[in-house]
Amino acid sequence: MNGKTPKVIWITGASSGLGRSLALQLANQGNRVIASARNQAELEKLAAQNTNIVALPCDITDEEAMQSLSSRIEEISPALDQVILNAGNCEYLDFPDPDWSAVRRVMEVNFFGTLNCVKLALPLLKKSNSDRPHVVAVVSQVTAAPFPRAEAYGASKAAMRYFFDSLRMDLAADDIDVTVVNPGFVDTPLTRKNDFPMPFLMQVDEAAERIVKNIAARPRQYSFPLRLSALLSLSKILPGVWQKMVAADAAMPAKDSGEGVSK
Ligand SMILES: NC(=O)c1ccc[n+]([C@@H]2O[C@H](COP(=O)([O-])OP(=O)(O)OC[C@H]3O[C@@H](n4cnc5c(N)ncnc54)[C@H](OP(=O)(O)O)[C@@H]3O)[C@@H](O)[C@H]2O)c1
Repeated sequence: MNGKTPKVIWITGASSGLGRSLALQLANQGNRVIASARNQAELEKLAAQNTNIVALPCDITDEEAMQSLSSRIEEISPALDQVILNAGNCEYLDFPDPDWSAVRRVMEVNFFGTLNCVKLALPLLKKSNSDRPHVVAVVSQVTAAPFPRAEAYGASKAAMRYFFDSLRMDLAADDIDVTVVNPGFVDTPLTRKNDFPMPFLMQVDEAAERIVKNIAARPRQYSFPLRLSALLSLSKILPGVWQKMVAADAAMPAKDSGEGVSK
């Protein structure tokens, strides 16, 4: 225990990557963690690692099933103190003949799936006994700059970012805080399929540790690592240079491109 009052925290996308590491770190601090994703077997393995974790499988895109999830959460706890909306998916468009339906699929998970979670979580957050319940949305630094082939993923994350920045204003009267977390590149199953250079790639446990530490102060935004934020700011100052730079990167095999590269 870290001396703080334990919270009841619902984390989506907890079967792998960032969500899994966040669940373990927050449970290790003594919090009660409700861990969701579709892969029940992985959630049960996670719950077996710490008795503070309860597995609650769900598909966040299944609007009807999500409505009934609320009563399943209430069987575990009558209220939520924090939600970490982390579940997400990424598909790229391959030009000149992209699969346009990927845009809808990615929006379904990242934006509309997350919206289903918000609808479910808000009444439970309002019942919290903590001073200020907390909504944390895992967005991405992709919203800071355009990347080739990232039309679907980038648009879904930009939509999330606006949604949560706006929601923060509407929840202020209920004393509910909203933090948007924007990770850079983190080594997870989601990025392992990338075949382009990923500058400043971080290990998943280190990234989750940074998130846990920094969301405690409830900033509006938390973007990391800062050196990636600095690099991406180039796209605003010199958009033409940025475009040439990412085009050259895209043409370069990942194994030849230096720091932070994984296949
Ligand atoms: N890795 C990075 O570099 C990076 C950078 C910026 C932002 N992010 C964001 O961080 C979040 C976590 O990603 P990650 O990198 O940790 O990838 P990951 O290991 O692939 O994790 C994605 C999680 O989302 C869950 N998920 C996907 N579709 C779902 C659905 N329909 N219903 C419920 N759960 C679903 C997956 O579980 P199931 O398959 O079991 O459902 C999995 O637990 C994502 O929102 C991602 O966009 C990642």
